[in-house]
Amino acid sequence: MKTWAIYSLKGGVGKTAAAVNLASEAALDGRHVLLWDLDPQGAASWYLGVDDPPEMSAKRIVSGKAPLGRYVQHTDQERLDVLPGDRGYRHWDAQIHAAKQPRKVIEELIEPFSESYSLMILDCPPGIGSLATAVLRAADRVLVPVVPTPLSLRALDEVLEHVEDKKVGKTRVLPFFSMADRRRRMHREMIEAPPDTLKKAPETFIDYSTHVEQMGVHRAPVRRFSPRSRAAAQYRALYRELR
Ligand SMILES: Nc1ncnc2c1ncn2[C@@H]1O[C@H](COP(=O)(O)OP(=O)(O)O)[C@@H](O)[C@H]1O
Ligand SMILES: [Mg+2]
Repeated sequence: MKTWAIYSLKGGVGKTAAAVNLASEAALDGRHVLLWDLDPQGAASWYLGVDDPPEMSAKRIVSGKAPLGRYVQHTDQERLDVLPGDRGYRHWDAQIHAAKQPRKVIEELIEPFSESYSLMILDCPPGIGSLATAVLRAADRVLVPVVPTPLSLRALDEVLEHVEDKKVGKTRVLPFFSMADRRRRMHREMIEAPPDTLKKAPETFIDYSTHVEQMGVHRAPVRRFSPRSRAAAQYRALYRELR
């Protein structure tokens, strides 16, 4: 099983949109995919049609009292399952920090799923605490959506520094441009002359698109309700570059 984390220090940069669409592409590609929605807001689970998420508690999960496998929900897409997010995830950082081996918490929790899934996608909340460190260690790849603005780039630099500081090992950080709006000069300039940290980024980037916004109306990945849109093509292309 491969593990991809969609992570940034920042909120509102397109993490959840990427997590849901990439998970859907991977399932369509024949992989058995489990998306773990680690965000207390539960947006990814909601997009995937989960209406009544079970009550989840970071404390019970970290302590092993609530085996995660019990919470897996099927979605209406074949081969795509979700572990829903819930407000009980508000205290991840404190709970993980208090564990015996904080850095290994996420790695150990997801290990059992390798029997049933070939790809695990972690949709992370923003922030840079114990959860982030544990996720960075557990993931083979960390995908960081970067809106082409200076602030978003600074957030990427901090992620890269954090990875370096914490020596999380095998993790590969892959930034990609997200919510890019080529009508804006600042976006255009950054896309045309990307900073060093983005030179090795995937070629595909995700444009600003009303189709992505409409995921909230349709509660589905873009390709399901707008398969010919540019957004659907971009998520597919991004998946293909990553797989
Ligand atoms: N490519 C995009 N184009 C337009 N809107 C987007 C795009 N990606 C995300 N959004 C919108 O921006 C908001 C934040 O996106 P989301 O994926 O939830 O970000 P995050 O998970 O990083 O907080 C949502 O309302 C979403 O619909
Ligand atoms: Mg999110």
